[in-house]
Amino acid sequence: MDTSPFQDLIPELERALKPYRDGFLSFSKLPLEGCARDEILREMEKFKSVEEARWRDGNVSGAVYHGDQAHIDFLNRVYALQSQSNPLHADVWPSTTKFEAEIVAMTAHMLGADAGSGVCGTVTSGGTESILVAIKTYRDWARETKGITAPEMIAPTTAHAAFDKAAQYFGIKLIRIPVGPDFRADVAVTREAITPNTIALVGSAPPFPHGIVDPIQELSELARAREIGFHTDGCLGGFLLPWAEKLGYPVPLFDFRLPGVTSISADTHKYGYAAKGTSVVLYRTAELRHFQYYVTTDWPGGLYFSPTLAGSRPGALSAGCWAAMVTMGEAGYLRAAKAILETAAQIKQGLREIPELRLIGDPLFVIAFMSEELDVFQIMEYMTRKNWGLNGLHSPAAVHLCVTLRHTQPSVAERFIADLKAAVAYVKEHPDAPSGVGPVYGMASVVELRGMVGDLLKMYMDLLYQVSE
Ligand SMILES: Cc1ncc(COP(=O)(O)O)c(C=O)c1O
Repeated sequence: MDTSPFQDLIPELERALKPYRDGFLSFSKLPLEGCARDEILREMEKFKSVEEARWRDGNVSGAVYHGDQAHIDFLNRVYALQSQSNPLHADVWPSTTKFEAEIVAMTAHMLGADAGSGVCGTVTSGGTESILVAIKTYRDWARETKGITAPEMIAPTTAHAAFDKAAQYFGIKLIRIPVGPDFRADVAVTREAITPNTIALVGSAPPFPHGIVDPIQELSELARAREIGFHTDGCLGGFLLPWAEKLGYPVPLFDFRLPGVTSISADTHKYGYAAKGTSVVLYRTAELRHFQYYVTTDWPGGLYFSPTLAGSRPGALSAGCWAAMVTMGEAGYLRAAKAILETAAQIKQGLREIPELRLIGDPLFVIAFMSEELDVFQIMEYMTRKNWGLNGLHSPAAVHLCVTLRHTQPSVAERFIADLKAAVAYVKEHPDAPSGVGPVYGMASVVELRGMVGDLLKMYMDLLYQVSE
């Protein structure tokens, strides 16, 4: 692999990714004798004290969606009480399967499924797994019911990378459809792209990059007319948009109230306020869900079945997810949504008052901005040096902040806007200001250089698994 263009970047990445060199326990082989538990716990406290401040004070986009200490302590207690459970052994831990059944039912109800509607689903490990299993489901459904052996699916360019991953993993041709000037999926182009091999269409509520909900009603009607699947990716918005709608915000329909929507992913570990490691995938019918399941009847290890990608799973995370949902309740989710949406409105207003920046569309809680006159990655780098953790976007170059409960703390929004103003002023005065990841994004926007950028990302992952001694 030719990695030469990035050789200079590696030491810098190493410094950033491997801060725990001196004064920390480090092993590349097992210690001969086990370390004392106290010593290990002290080590964990050290990591926590270094890493917690940044997200706790609301400096990071997305990542930690709730984060209040009392909520974390409560979820930790639930985890401790259920730490040995594994839903694979439903006979030993029937409580875990009860939690999962109720998580699915509560999520379905929240997303427009009436009691008795037949909407059903499973709990997965996160948004990516929910998307992977949904796409596998459509592939297997289309093969069995329509004889499609060269499956295709259609998704807007803004739909999450997990759809590419699903296409790669499951041998599906993914056709990416451009978004219009309003950053929403182009319905006319989608219609043109449908072929007899199309198994499903995708829309996001909202997509990760710019937070603008796709025209799910029109897209799902297209799918219904052609008798193909339609997946709403509500990983990010599934646990926020229903409450935004109740609060009177303009939220287009995206859930099971639309007859063409046949599956939805919604992440409990984002705005559901559970700890990381759970999500929900829902299907309109039990027949569809059957195509997700895995069963084998001739394995010497016994009759085996598992509903999702993993075999054994951490039941304690499902217990914590159930606990998070029922401790929040509708009133808690409404209060949280109100605070987040009001903070987002304040940030949007502040952004609109910075003439050098352009807010992309009028999103509810994922606030993306670009700049016609300045390098937005120089602005992002300035913000990084001010301890902000924002997300870089590309095609077009932009930056976003995904607003969570962390940002609703007093003065966070004001601090963000003040730093953004300072960033713009600095970049205007210093045209050569560092642009951090900007050059890499620049290369990734050139088709011929994408392979090289892909190699860099693999090197980055290699680095993650390197022990620093
Ligand atoms: C719209 C959307 N879909 C899917 C995902 C993937 O979720 P996860 O990171 O939990 O796998 C995300 C993550 O941010 C998302 O925003």
